[in-house]
Amino acid sequence: MPRPSANIARIEGNFKEKDIISIDQFDPADIDMLIEEANAMKAMVSKQGRSDLLADKIVADLFYEPSTRTFISFEGAAKRLSADTVATQGVDTSSMVKGETIADTVRVAECSADIIVIRHQLAGAATIAAEYASVPVINGGDGVGEHPTQALLDFMTLKENTQKKPEDLTVTLMGDLAYGRTGHSFALLLAKYGIKLNYVAPEHLEMPRDLVEKLNKLGIEQYETDSLDEVLQQTDALYVTRIQKERIAPEVLAKIGDNFVIDEKVMARAPKDMLLMHPLPRVGEIDEKLDSDPRAKYFEQVQNGVYIRMALLALISGRSIRS
Ligand code: NCD
Repeated sequence: MPRPSANIARIEGNFKEKDIISIDQFDPADIDMLIEEANAMKAMVSKQGRSDLLADKIVADLFYEPSTRTFISFEGAAKRLSADTVATQGVDTSSMVKGETIADTVRVAECSADIIVIRHQLAGAATIAAEYASVPVINGGDGVGEHPTQALLDFMTLKENTQKKPEDLTVTLMGDLAYGRTGHSFALLLAKYGIKLNYVAPEHLEMPRDLVEKLNKLGIEQYETDSLDEVLQQTDALYVTRIQKERIAPEVLAKIGDNFVIDEKVMARAPKDMLLMHPLPRVGEIDEKLDSDPRAKYFEQVQNGVYIRMALLALISGRSIRS
């Protein structure tokens, strides 16, 4: 039986001891507060590199699915605040291979750690972890479910690079919108600000119906197409995602056409100030020649991820770098 310790509550201005499982927990004021803390982290890092804000804390990074950025980012975020980390990467080296449950794993982890970050191939895994752990749990990506810290860093990057008010923005999500959790979390977040959304996906990879309906009920303007050119001129930020081959049944994968590529030709047709974003890893969707295009923001996203995760670790611990 799950323990009644899950604290997957709405943030409502108070992050202390909360589990961070879904973007649904956040209001715009919470997101703005987190970004403010992240900006303070950025200033601290540029001034002194690290702080001892969490020197008495240990963070468990439990990564049961492949990860480069998110793992390094959470590890780096903890260490920049002088927290120690205990980490496990990959199912092969953990007791999961022996059949240990998520519930038991987190109860072991909490014996050594004050905060647990979990990435797992199962949608809903982070919720289960939160239900069993008595320490706060952060969702580092749960299968096709959500990836809330990614959406938060994506929004920080978007905000930083536009003069427009959120309600005047249009974001186009492109690629694998069915199996890509980053697109799900980002759409949920953008909807909170009333941002208009375009979805460009090949057949079989469209945004899940339940998510589209949920945002419809909130009155969000959404437009679906399989042609980028149809919406390119009206796009303020183009968010590209890779096809999640490892999550797609082979018979479905066989029906999906050639990979789409954003290259210099596409960017020549795009608005002069359109931001080009990607959660990475890219596997050919964005031509490397675009890396020097000032509109390309994907490495800035990675950098902001460290600040967002530092801010989260601090606020969950009831601390702030600003006080
Ligand atoms: C993404 C993920 O793991 O969902 N990567 C990341 O965390 N930046 C995107 C992906 O794997 O395509």
